[in-house]
Amino acid sequence: MANETKFSTKLGVIAATVGSAVGLGNIWRFPYEAGMHGGGAFLLVYVLFVLLIGVPVVAGEFVIGRYTGSNVVGAFKKLKAAPFWHSVAYIGLLSSLLILGFYSVVAGWTVEYIYQAVTGFGGATSEEALHSQFDSFTTSGGRQIFWTLLFLAINFLVISRGVRKGIEKVSNVLMPMLFAILFVFCVNALFLPGAAEGLSFLFHPDFSKIDLPTVLNAMGQAFFSLSVGMGVLMTYASYFSSSTRLVNTSVTTALLDTLVAVMAGIIIFPAVFSFGATPAAGPRLVFEVLPSIFTTLPGGSLWAALFFVLLFVAALTSTISLSEVVIAWFIGEWKISRVKATVIYGIATGLLSSLCALSFGPLAGAKVFGMTFFDLFDFASSNILLPLGGMLIAVYTGWMLPRRILRAQLSAPGRDPGAPTPAGVRLVIFSLRFICPLAILAIFVWGLL
Ligand code: PHE
Repeated sequence: MANETKFSTKLGVIAATVGSAVGLGNIWRFPYEAGMHGGGAFLLVYVLFVLLIGVPVVAGEFVIGRYTGSNVVGAFKKLKAAPFWHSVAYIGLLSSLLILGFYSVVAGWTVEYIYQAVTGFGGATSEEALHSQFDSFTTSGGRQIFWTLLFLAINFLVISRGVRKGIEKVSNVLMPMLFAILFVFCVNALFLPGAAEGLSFLFHPDFSKIDLPTVLNAMGQAFFSLSVGMGVLMTYASYFSSSTRLVNTSVTTALLDTLVAVMAGIIIFPAVFSFGATPAAGPRLVFEVLPSIFTTLPGGSLWAALFFVLLFVAALTSTISLSEVVIAWFIGEWKISRVKATVIYGIATGLLSSLCALSFGPLAGAKVFGMTFFDLFDFASSNILLPLGGMLIAVYTGWMLPRRILRAQLSAPGRDPGAPTPAGVRLVIFSLRFICPLAILAIFVWGLL
């Protein structure tokens, strides 16, 4: 019985964790964030966040998850943490709801675009035609809601089947396929007429562009893309066995995740410059620009369909992990069945994501703090809740958790506890104690000034 709730193989652990990390965040969000915030400057700051803060906090989440073997709320109970620390769990649950709210809308776009690809984008090939196609789709309330809810239905169907049967199987097959197709598109992008300009935009940092919005958004992007700061990785780590190496898994996840984001940039920016689009187009960037590359390939619509199918799958493996935080909490703390939990949470997210789906059309004028629901949910979760959760996780693991437990979890399984602590583990601990809390706090204070 116990084994049924663990990942069965090493590949399963990596595929599920990378499956959570790699998603729309890499292929849809990273390019448009980089496009809006200075290209190379954004990439540089982003990579620094991933390495200095992302990897340690991922490892910290893994430690809590595997040590307690519990859902987020149960984990802090088991650790007998003071009530304050339970806020980490609730921040995570709230983030799951908000992220699922807007994420499933974009995931719905991928389904619409599979359909559009199959039907040849209605014959549209120019930038303007693809632009107005995107507009007419996103402003149509009904079509948006339809695809969003369809996506959520598929998501919760997989979730209802449980950890090993659902999550691991889907991830094992499809993540490697995604890497392969991204590679093909990268090679193709290098031959586009705008390749040099696109690559220079992505890889040449202009240091004058490093301002507060760039830093805040790069930090948000790092947390979002790594799925860290909200208990998703804690929940997955509760399914890890004692032989999983936590520091290695954190580093591997971060490297693969960043690789996919950079590949997406290599695919998109040459196309942006070839087709006369603007890198600062925002959330529509990928959906407008990618179809224009596909038309340059022989058998274009087939490639396009394949691409959007894989993007859909990448989104799905991420939403599965997002949902699992809350489902595991329902099952663990409220003692309700997986199926019942799935139905309840499915309805809640369905309602919230409908609000986001209408944010581009009928509800475009409904603004809170000057943002549509879609933008607000994205901003609040990525730029505030995840870094806040990450900061608390760092402080908890770095300062509150007995050092013996932290060291034992982070070290290779079966290591002699008397041997000196490996440098990688020491670095992670140092960052959890000092770099993560201070850097995140400093950026929040900077934002408030
Ligand atoms: N990391 C996912 C992506 O990049 C999104 C995500 C965020 C998933 C937070 C889980 C938790 O698409």
